[in-house]
Amino acid sequence: MKIACKIRSWECARQPVFVRADLNVPLQNNTIANDRRLRGIQPTLDELIKKGAIIVLASHIGRPKKKEPHLSTKILIPWFEKQGYAITFCKTIEEAIEKEKIARKGSILLLENLRFFPEEKARDRTFITALASLADWYVNDAFATLHRNDASLADLAYEFAADHRSIGFLIEKELTILNKFLHGSKKPVCAILGGGKIADKLPLINNLLTFADYILLCPALAFTFEKAIGKKTGKSLVDDESIPKALTILKKAQLMNIPIVLPQDYQVAGGAIDGPLSIVPSDDIPDNGIGVSIGPESLRVFNEYIQKSGSIFYNGAMGFPDRPETLEGLKSLLTDISTASGTSIVAGGNSIAIADQLSLTGITYYSTGGGATLTYLSGIKLPGLEPFY
Ligand code: 3PG
Repeated sequence: MKIACKIRSWECARQPVFVRADLNVPLQNNTIANDRRLRGIQPTLDELIKKGAIIVLASHIGRPKKKEPHLSTKILIPWFEKQGYAITFCKTIEEAIEKEKIARKGSILLLENLRFFPEEKARDRTFITALASLADWYVNDAFATLHRNDASLADLAYEFAADHRSIGFLIEKELTILNKFLHGSKKPVCAILGGGKIADKLPLINNLLTFADYILLCPALAFTFEKAIGKKTGKSLVDDESIPKALTILKKAQLMNIPIVLPQDYQVAGGAIDGPLSIVPSDDIPDNGIGVSIGPESLRVFNEYIQKSGSIFYNGAMGFPDRPETLEGLKSLLTDISTASGTSIVAGGNSIAIADQLSLTGITYYSTGGGATLTYLSGIKLPGLEPFY
């Protein structure tokens, strides 16, 4: 069923509108390394400002265990001010209630990082009611977090009547593009997956087998599969609990005749992530080696798949942003994707940040979601979308 963005018809002048966005930007040395997620929600903000609403803007940043100052949404204020928005930071919900009373038409109240409140993950009722009391309308434009069951995503929308809640323009655009990719993509379809959050991603790979014609695996995800087939992975990131699932996926792919391609060689750091770097064959990872990226032979093989694909999907950055030498594999891979004749989608904040640094023009679409995009393409329900069907 198609989900409609209703905000075009809203009459919300002088009324508070709660906007849940994903402003979880990649950070490097405490500065914003890439602002695509911020630019992504501008059309929604601009429309509400044009209508004279008062926007209560909320997001998470990172996965704070406690109130970590470098993950405060406060760090976003200069970016918004530079774009000309009238924006005020609110540390608590109580402060937001007070500031709302004197807020000007068309201005933004930015709430503190929602994950500074344990109630966000706990889906606490009192917290949900308090957030709801801040607004008359609710917009979810947090495309990249739709796969999370958090209070502000999965519960808050239901506190508003169906005609007072809507998705935003970013979600509308992302869904349109992904639906086109899902239902109209040219064969063969190549999915290239890497990065961490392995336990999250494995069930999704399982579902991708119905859609992709081949799946290429990159670090760190690849190492759980390497270990599952009995290879040495040194000190590379492996999710031991996911090994049985990785084996099931490999068997299923074999039965379906879908190649799951593991790298032929890796770039490894010796001993620690800032240790000396070398390229080793995939069956010769030293005991103290930490796999960080793929090597030249893997890039060559992967590129053969990329160039013969009708559609390419990439998610899961490899390498460390703070150590540029480890980003060369990712850069080459993204460059190969950008020169392919097939339609391509690159998903996820860190990969987009690198593609932007390289000013790659040949990539068809950048999706602001990582896990959320993968979840949607896998045909699994997104909790944040449920209130809008
Ligand atoms: C993301 O970057 O994928 C989203 O912001 C979700 O973040 P999370 O994986 O920490 O929930």
